[in-house]
Amino acid sequence: MVLQVEISKAIALLRQGEVVAFPTETVYGLGADATNPKALRKVFLAKQRPMDHPLIVHIGSEAELDMWVREIPEVAYPLMKAFWPGPLTLIFKKSPQVVDLITGGQDTVGLRMPNHPVALELLRAFGGGLAAPSANRFGRISPTTMSAVIDELEGSIAGVMEGGQCEVGVESTIVDLSHGEPRILRPGMITVSQIEKVLGKKISVDERDVPRVSGSLESHYAPETKMKLVATEEVVGFLKAYLLPVAVLSYSLPEFEQDNVKWVNMSSDAVQYAHDLYKCLRMLDKEKLALIVVEKIPESDEWDAVRDRLNRAAF
Ligand code: TXA
Ligand code: MG
Repeated sequence: MVLQVEISKAIALLRQGEVVAFPTETVYGLGADATNPKALRKVFLAKQRPMDHPLIVHIGSEAELDMWVREIPEVAYPLMKAFWPGPLTLIFKKSPQVVDLITGGQDTVGLRMPNHPVALELLRAFGGGLAAPSANRFGRISPTTMSAVIDELEGSIAGVMEGGQCEVGVESTIVDLSHGEPRILRPGMITVSQIEKVLGKKISVDERDVPRVSGSLESHYAPETKMKLVATEEVVGFLKAYLLPVAVLSYSLPEFEQDNVKWVNMSSDAVQYAHDLYKCLRMLDKEKLALIVVEKIPESDEWDAVRDRLNRAAF
């Protein structure tokens, strides 16, 4: 049994070097004292994640940055002001004391201040950084509810905190500030154009920087059921020729009724779609379907994060 814990118990466990899952506004994270190698090893073990994949350090105040970062480039300040606390991870040159298990042996460190009352209370009471990868087994969908965390990690973590369903629903936008010009390493619900607006200039997007970002392995964020992306105008034709049990995630089509088809109306709003996506895929994974068909989503940049996760899940 995974133990649901309140804040004082969570702090006690973290101080003892245990791992505790907690909610953030993006997805649930698997938290461990970011200065304690023993605790960090438990994170990798619980997730079955390769040890060279770096972890994001979560902090409760900007004053803590100095502990982790060697130099804060000017460009970081407007981004932190605009988006922290919030779903933005910034990659900096690391300070010397940051342990290799955090950085994957690189000279950089990722930091984020999450915008969830439980996470912020936990971080501020803990008074230090918590490493927190998404609380799923390696390669699987990130959990957006406490029960999804328990499904994923039952038996391999010391505790989990309840925080309701995550508001954002997909992982944070990652921006690399460690090598000259800012670059987007992972799209999230803070979009390229929002970031460009704050910085007043164009920035580059590099989603395929393998292996620096484990999320950029093609097979990531996948449900167990096979997934296929189909263009809007081809969905009905595809279904007419398909005999096995299939679910359809559609944001624009009227329901197509057929015995083997389970129709799921998704939102036509990117923010709401992202909020619902992982929970929906988890639910469908339990239904023993042959396939999940996903109607291709729009090309505009507010859909970047959803498109990225769908492309990887369908790979
Ligand atoms: O929204 C999120 O970011 C969630 C919540 C829990 O905060 N966390 C999350 O962590 O998605 P994780 O470990 O599942 O994904 C973090 C990504 C990984 O792909 C990792 O490679 C990348 O961040 N990352 C961490 N530190 C990095 C660094 N120094 N340089 C490049 N990429 C880094
Ligand atoms: Mg993850």
